[in-house]
Amino acid sequence: MLTGKGITHPIVVKLGGSIVTRKDEPYTPNKEAIDKLADILSSYYRSNGQLILVHGGGSYGHYAVEEARKRKGVLDTVDVAQVQKRMLELSVIIASSLIEHGLPVSIHPAHTLCKSENDCCFDVIIEDLSNGLVPMTYGDIIVTDKGYKIISGDDLTLWLASTTGSRRVIFVMDQPGVLDKTGKVMERVTPQTLGEVGIAKKESVDVTGGIAKKLESALEFVVDHDVEVRVVGIEGLKEILSGGKAGTVITK
Ligand SMILES: Nc1ncnc2c1ncn2[C@@H]1O[C@H](COP(=O)(O)OP(=O)(O)OP(=O)(O)O)[C@@H](O)[C@H]1O
Ligand SMILES: [Mg+2]
Repeated sequence: MLTGKGITHPIVVKLGGSIVTRKDEPYTPNKEAIDKLADILSSYYRSNGQLILVHGGGSYGHYAVEEARKRKGVLDTVDVAQVQKRMLELSVIIASSLIEHGLPVSIHPAHTLCKSENDCCFDVIIEDLSNGLVPMTYGDIIVTDKGYKIISGDDLTLWLASTTGSRRVIFVMDQPGVLDKTGKVMERVTPQTLGEVGIAKKESVDVTGGIAKKLESALEFVVDHDVEVRVVGIEGLKEILSGGKAGTVITK
């Protein structure tokens, strides 16, 4: 674990693409949701809470990859650069709102942190955090000697938690938690109750596997990490950051 000076169990919050964008409309941010999230996160920051932020691709990254795949089959370096640019655009939109709300956000594109889809160096994020900034990275795309690779924002979130000694990870989505087959928010998802998870609606394009992969990765992660992993909606985030309970906990 790479905890630096002054790092006190930061909360890692993943702002899902399903909430920060309108996932079914290409390249469309959900400004209203972003502003609400900024308001909630800035209150937490002002109460001296340390935060690391990750955001997803939503109708930017996922759509840009799908669009290039449909057009050409395989992405070339210009397509990769285009996807990277689209993600940076989304990140700037999110950071602008966060900064306006008083959060000192520092953007770290994952393509500058990662050499492969599972080899990322978070030193600069840790340095930022210990100097009072709120580092933010995001799901991204890189080119390796084995071709282009997509770096999942969900994976980055879990890796950042284990690297920084975080005890809490919060995935914020457009649903109030993980829904069961009747549409009710599940209090917890465990390997035993995974089969009860329902499909809330037709899932939008998600090149990193959507909710199913998110739950699979989180369940794997909690086996050997003492970190609380939760899935919440916007209201749930507010509740959790002010000491309450909301959403779904993913646990072993
Ligand atoms: N049982 C379920 N419970 C909760 N959400 C579900 C369920 N089934 C499908 N979903 C859908 O899964 C989506 C969340 O997963 P997805 O990976 O698409 O979003 P995200 O992680 O917020 O986006 P991104 O990957 O762009 O960051 C939500 O939009 C939700 O509607
Ligand atoms: Mg996703």
